[in-house]
Amino acid sequence: MIRFALLLAVAFLTSSASLLMAQESSVRPGINRAYENPQFDQWVHTFERPGREIYDRRQSIVNATGLEPGMVVADIGAGTGLFTLLFAPRVEPEGRVIAVDISQVFIDNIMRRARAVGADNVQGVLGTATDASLPPASIDLAFVCDTYHHFEYPQKMLASLHRALRPGGSMIVIDFRRIPGFSSPWVMQHVRAGKSTVVREVETAGFQMLGEESFLLGNYFLRFKKP
Ligand SMILES: C[S@@+](CC[C@H](N)C(=O)[O-])C[C@H]1O[C@@H](n2cnc3c(N)ncnc32)[C@H](O)[C@@H]1O
Repeated sequence: MIRFALLLAVAFLTSSASLLMAQESSVRPGINRAYENPQFDQWVHTFERPGREIYDRRQSIVNATGLEPGMVVADIGAGTGLFTLLFAPRVEPEGRVIAVDISQVFIDNIMRRARAVGADNVQGVLGTATDASLPPASIDLAFVCDTYHHFEYPQKMLASLHRALRPGGSMIVIDFRRIPGFSSPWVMQHVRAGKSTVVREVETAGFQMLGEESFLLGNYFLRFKKP
């Protein structure tokens, strides 16, 4: 009996420790190394080039967000500001776009681009790998495009986005389809998890899945809600 109780205690401690480790350690060390000291113009050529599905279908993506004047949208992992700059006129005059990234170089250049086109409703926020650094209940939409697979600490990032959303607010996740035999070797190696894993992780973080858009081929477009 005592031996059984001891075994149970050891099993409990081991599973708690592994849960804690899972939350504390990066799920993909090094995935953001290329953004540590980015050459901005080079990334503009990479993210804003014909042939990239996200870029080619950017107007359809913006339309599908459902953004309206007055809304506050956070572009999580805003990169070069491709979507930040498209969102800005959609939500003006009262609404705002918050460009969140872990790279100060990206944030500085997005702000420079926003000023150049007179988009004065854009704000840049330097986040961390674990936190979007947004005030609680401050945004209507978290837009996560080609960035979920760059989250090294997905549970912590999801918790911070859940906190930042107003009740009833939504989150859109666009990311690469990762399907053996369909996806390129680069995607299979670069992207940690496929759609079903992502849905499970996001639902575990307290989001409710609302649906999916089907107009993208190499990527999926998922819509979630903070209940
Ligand atoms: C592949 S880029 C996508 C850029 C942009 N969303 C697009 O689709 O053009 C991924 C971006 O996510 C940023 N990033 C990675 N982890 C992040 C995190 N935890 N929070 C915010 N941004 C993050 C990177 O610095 C990079 O700018």
